[in-house]
Amino acid sequence: CGIVGYIGNDNVTPILLKGLEKLEYRGYDSAGIAVKTDESLEVVREKGRIADLTEKVGENLAGHTGIGHTRWATHGEPSVKNAHPQQSNDGQFTLVHNGVIENYRQLKEEYLSDVEFTSDTDTEVIVELINYFSKQGQDTENAFNSTLRLLEGSYALGLMDKDIDGTIFVAKNKSPLLVGLGDTFNVITSDAMAMLGLTNEFVELMDGEIVILKQDSVSIINPDGNEVERDSYTAEIDASDVEKGTYDHYMIKEINDQPGAMRKIISQYQDENEQLVIDDAIIEQLKETDRIYIVAAGTSYHAGLIGKEYFEKWAKIPTEVHVASEFVYNTPMLSEKPLFVFISQSGETADSRAVLVEVKKLGYPTLTITNVAGSTLSREADETLLLYAGPEIAVASTKAYTAQIAVLSITAQVAARELGQEIDIDLMQELAVVTNAINAVINDASIIENIVREYLETTRNAFFIGRTLDYYVGLEGALKLKEISYIQAEGFAGGELKHGTIALIEKGTPVFSLITQDKVNLNTRGNAQEVEARGAKVCTISMAGLDEEGDDYVIPKVHPMLSPLVSVIVYQFVAYYAALHRGNDVDKPRNLAKSVTVE
Ligand code: G6P
Repeated sequence: CGIVGYIGNDNVTPILLKGLEKLEYRGYDSAGIAVKTDESLEVVREKGRIADLTEKVGENLAGHTGIGHTRWATHGEPSVKNAHPQQSNDGQFTLVHNGVIENYRQLKEEYLSDVEFTSDTDTEVIVELINYFSKQGQDTENAFNSTLRLLEGSYALGLMDKDIDGTIFVAKNKSPLLVGLGDTFNVITSDAMAMLGLTNEFVELMDGEIVILKQDSVSIINPDGNEVERDSYTAEIDASDVEKGTYDHYMIKEINDQPGAMRKIISQYQDENEQLVIDDAIIEQLKETDRIYIVAAGTSYHAGLIGKEYFEKWAKIPTEVHVASEFVYNTPMLSEKPLFVFISQSGETADSRAVLVEVKKLGYPTLTITNVAGSTLSREADETLLLYAGPEIAVASTKAYTAQIAVLSITAQVAARELGQEIDIDLMQELAVVTNAINAVINDASIIENIVREYLETTRNAFFIGRTLDYYVGLEGALKLKEISYIQAEGFAGGELKHGTIALIEKGTPVFSLITQDKVNLNTRGNAQEVEARGAKVCTISMAGLDEEGDDYVIPKVHPMLSPLVSVIVYQFVAYYAALHRGNDVDKPRNLAKSVTVE
């Protein structure tokens, strides 16, 4: 979910709606705003997108203080009654919330058994608790405080009291939230990007803090009740980076951004002697460790699988890759000197953060690889490596995945060099070759669109096979296709398909077979024949040098360790066109959110 709030001279309504549009990537099943008008406090909520809310709001709602919310449902189905803001039943308090309150049922039973609830949300429990303490005679700040002390779980909160003008009460625990500063206004936002049109000066908030936000003041109060001073920082994002320009969708823009992102990464990670560099502190971490534990979710997990190959093959550091949500509750046996590497485009994924919090308690070194400077995972880990991919807005990750792989390759190469391992690749040179190859695939987009017409137009399912690195890319290809086209897709190790899953192959089932690795070329081709013999329609994507007559598409030759950076572009286009041809919302697929800040 995403939240915004504003207090200032201008009309708050369009500011909230515009901010929410920018936060829509965080959830888009329902939305709402609360605006303090001259007479009262008005709440408008709607199921669906911000555009639907905007229509419902109409032209006449105006005020100078307000809060807004766009939702990714956790408790309760997407509906108007479950949308935020949630209000106390007497209309005194109005609240937006991002996060999950784990003990909301107990709190409801213990304190609020008399209250009639109108939604299924945990948020309504928070706002009713505030009302409960207020009715007991506490002022709003104290009632807010008393409530927060009872909450277990994650929250970013913006609260308004209908009788207190020009004030938003703010609190944060685990969920991200920033204060943005202006000359004649102040704002809150889940992500700096949403407020770039107004300001690029932001103040970070820490867990457990409360903020009293007014038009001309921001008081930050720490958990001990003391006011703290904190300097602001300037967000270095260009407002134009978050627009899609002439492209139809963010996803296609971001696919096309990839050569530029590669060039940026190459330039950011080299010194004046054109040597690859990363911070000394990270080199120390890598030299010290006896085992790397990569922790990530979704696409970032898939990038981690490729990263493992780099750390093990080049730097000779044993490496494990874990799904974050599993790692927390099923922690594997750890080595003596583990190094935890968190990979996350957003730097906000709650599942990954839960692991970070645990391993920090144990005192282990941590490194975050993220696209978002100043994000939670970046702030809280010992060290950070940035992706430099530029803001990624489409829910389906593209350029962040390739940037993650590139940064992992650089990190592993520097580690190899510093550990005195034999180096048999000129990585900088090879990444430049990769950049050109990505460009070549982008220029072939229409060929890949035709592949989609041939293989995916009517199908309900699809398989992606490959071995070694090509297997990992297949996992990502399948995820991309699922996410936005809703075709049921599965990535499989070429050799494993026959041990069960081959039962799903029917006449015409599309199977994408990826071939970029010499040593398994013939094995994968053999597996493709096995499914073809059972009726599958095999689409072969190979790399120049390993290509055979009849292959459907051939990517340019690059260093085999870096082939995922190029082959995945084909699958990104496959997913894009499959979704487009089905008339789906490419950038905002159903049920998903780009940054999931709940566990
Ligand atoms: C969400 C997104 C995925 C993404 C995953 C991890 O589930 O829908 O596309 O891969 O989170 O996100 P992160 O920001 O941690 O890379």
